[in-house]
Amino acid sequence: MRILVTGGAGFIGSHTCVSLLESGYEVAVLDNYVNSSPAAVAAIEQITGKKVLAYEVDLLDLEAVQAVFQKDHFDGVIHFAGLKAVGESVSKPLEYYHNNITGSLNLCRAMREADCKVLVFSSSATVYGPVNPIPYVEGMPTSATSPYGWTKVMIEQMLTDLAATDPAWSISLLRYFNPVGAHESGLIGEAPNGIPNNLMPYIAKVATGELPYLRVFGGDYDTPDGTGVRDYIHVMDLAEGHVKALEYALSHTGVEAVNLGSGKGTSVLELFHAYERACGKELAYQICPRRAGDLPAFWADPRKAEALYHWHTTRDLDSMCRDSWRFTSSHMG
Ligand code: WQD
Repeated sequence: MRILVTGGAGFIGSHTCVSLLESGYEVAVLDNYVNSSPAAVAAIEQITGKKVLAYEVDLLDLEAVQAVFQKDHFDGVIHFAGLKAVGESVSKPLEYYHNNITGSLNLCRAMREADCKVLVFSSSATVYGPVNPIPYVEGMPTSATSPYGWTKVMIEQMLTDLAATDPAWSISLLRYFNPVGAHESGLIGEAPNGIPNNLMPYIAKVATGELPYLRVFGGDYDTPDGTGVRDYIHVMDLAEGHVKALEYALSHTGVEAVNLGSGKGTSVLELFHAYERACGKELAYQICPRRAGDLPAFWADPRKAEALYHWHTTRDLDSMCRDSWRFTSSHMG
């Protein structure tokens, strides 16, 4: 079986390519490297000892995407490629809607023309919006509070409507919670350019000394220690969840929205202290005002992924931090 992974040079995409190759799939990557590097493809090959064909293509170039499907055969597609910075999407809505939605439309058109109708889509817990009770369950109504989040809601709707036109389509809408960590080799991981928006890569830069201290966005939430609570999931658990979702999609039809999360809430300070244990250093933080748009707490109800895919998370917070630190400390400077 041969799988095309769009955004396969990115953080979650590259880890998923490793799991796919280790599960016996052939893998090709389609990436424009706007937020990643060809070096990640080489690292995937180094980790697995297997070749990966990489297409440097932008999904906004429909003819280039169609050419990939004319030249190569795929049994399925895992679609990660997209812009994903929540704050940036607020200041650049047109770019986010164009890039994420037109890119997904072009991919679906090329897939339909090639009669490739198995698609696993990288969605996000952000589609549960600000009003649903926790833990989040797949059948809850979706909404968003940022253009980035709306692109995920809209692409889920587009894919649902596409599947309704042809029973041959098999589409998985995987809703991730907070992916963190890195492959145990330390060869691939999360390496955002500049000042990270997300919590763990920010703490990682405090641990390397590139940043002086962690700003804890809010210490007065109605949570056990007053800081924000999220459902962190090791990126390798997430990658393995994608392989299980693909196996299911290859043997079923229709559309399934599925949470990929641990089902456990962890606070900012709990993760911060776990990172101190992982790096063996005492790190600095300051309690600062809340970040606009943040919810106090959310985590997944993970039962559907267990029932459908026989999958659940296996790696704990300490291994998330240890694996993140191994990657970060070996890529310092
Ligand atoms: C986690 C917690 C912050 C940074 C975002 C996107 C979501 C998804 C994952 C794409 C919160 C606190 C953070 C910092 C802090 N991305 N924090 N200091 O906001 O849950 O989700 O990333 O799909 O769509 O919204 O993740 O890591 O930014 O924040 O105190 O410097 O850490 O307040 O409680 P978030 P995050």
